[in-house]
Amino acid sequence: MAGRFVTFEGGEGAGKSTQIARLKERLEKLGHPVLVTREPGGSPLAEEIRSFILNGHAKPLGPFAEALMFAAARIDHLDKTIKPALKNGTTVLCDRFADSTRAYQGSSGSISSETIDELERVALAGTKPDLTFILDLPAEVGLSRAGERQARKGEAMDRFEDEGLSFHRALRQAYLAIAESDPQRCAVINADQAAEDVEMAIWAALQERLPELAEPQKRPLDVA
Ligand code: TYD
Repeated sequence: MAGRFVTFEGGEGAGKSTQIARLKERLEKLGHPVLVTREPGGSPLAEEIRSFILNGHAKPLGPFAEALMFAAARIDHLDKTIKPALKNGTTVLCDRFADSTRAYQGSSGSISSETIDELERVALAGTKPDLTFILDLPAEVGLSRAGERQARKGEAMDRFEDEGLSFHRALRQAYLAIAESDPQRCAVINADQAAEDVEMAIWAALQERLPELAEPQKRPLDVA
């Protein structure tokens, strides 16, 4: 059976990587093969595009050109990493995917939703996430968490963390609008709580929406 494609979305400091690691551990304990990947990136070529964009080199071109570059990276990521894994039955957990383009580049207000729809249609060519967790929290809380993380690691802010508070507030609303327009696929998770509680909320949503993943993996002999 084809693997399940699960994506994690949210603003800065929402705790996606912590939650992806925890979900991976739970799934592997149940015997499910899991691949963790991320966007932008996830394949050698897409990682090169990632550093180009996150260093701010594409910023002068504007949000539409940035959206095209994210889409180009996504095409390679799908072809080289995501689709082969799904085909061999691996569950793919992806840190950001197409909703990030809709939320981040869409929040600039300069790209119509029809253009984003069309870009998504051609780039994804039919491979849609089965389930998307949207980790939701107030922009102020997320930005201060991201700031603490950078101070701890001595990192600089990247291209999008550097945007103002109003951008990050619009981003949150954009994610909530995505969830509202596609409730079958999207589960909004309150990320403004302890990591353990976020983990429980994610697991509860997974049990409800993809129950086969919350059960031990069936071996071919069990099925026959
Ligand atoms: P990353 O360091 O992975 O940030 P995070 O930990 O927040 O996921 O950087 C990815 C950045 O790129 C993040 O600020 C969101 C942005 N982004 C877009 O603007 N559009 C996209 O399509 C994607 C995938 C990411």
